[in-house]
Amino acid sequence: MRCFDIHTHILPGVDDGSDSMDTTRELLKLQLKEGVTDIIATSHYDTRRNRQDYDHIMELTREVQEEAKKLDSELKIYSGAEILYSRGVLDDIKDGKVPMIAGTECCLVEFYPSQSFNEIEEALNNIIMLGKTPIIAHLERYQCFIGKIDLVRDVVKLGAYVQINSNSFLEGMFSKNARFIKKLLVNDLIHFVGSDCHDMVSRKPQMEKTYKYIAKVAGEDVAERITVTNPEKIVSGEYL
Ligand SMILES: [Fe+2]
Repeated sequence: MRCFDIHTHILPGVDDGSDSMDTTRELLKLQLKEGVTDIIATSHYDTRRNRQDYDHIMELTREVQEEAKKLDSELKIYSGAEILYSRGVLDDIKDGKVPMIAGTECCLVEFYPSQSFNEIEEALNNIIMLGKTPIIAHLERYQCFIGKIDLVRDVVKLGAYVQINSNSFLEGMFSKNARFIKKLLVNDLIHFVGSDCHDMVSRKPQMEKTYKYIAKVAGEDVAERITVTNPEKIVSGEYL
């Protein structure tokens, strides 16, 4: 069975993720051990500090794909970016300077943790107006959503998808965030899970435990939809 990780910082030397091809190789090996077969490389794209060069990202993605093939012929790497919604980013998207997920019209977008719901809603609207489909990166990080399931419903109705980080599911019953994530899960408001892995020390890929947790809480069919069917559709350019 396939399993996607749609949020990773595995490209070497471009952001605060992998620092070398050696680290990238170790991350890929661990992903394989965790059962991951398809990885979207989503390096930070930040108009203030980290405006990645499109061609360079594509070239690096190809290089990592070659390394991945040596480890396992089935392991696939797709291009992408984690786009910080900041000044000038809409123009960059419009000008085709920002890597979309697997070259489709879908993109992974992050916000500042303290941003208001109105600002996030307006930003999503602006992206949708460009003909793009935004996936909200680690929605659990934005304070405005926590405990407010109706606001999550609102952005989904608007046309956005929701991604949650794999380790956030596993914070335990005393975590307010984890309880909220569970609520989103059983209400079918989570479309994707991503490890948001950066390195082999403190931010490792961790997909297997999360898959099992989702299957236990919401059923095997939901776990499969979030980790396989939905991302398969996205990389094929389909809507969910
Ligand atoms: Fe990230």
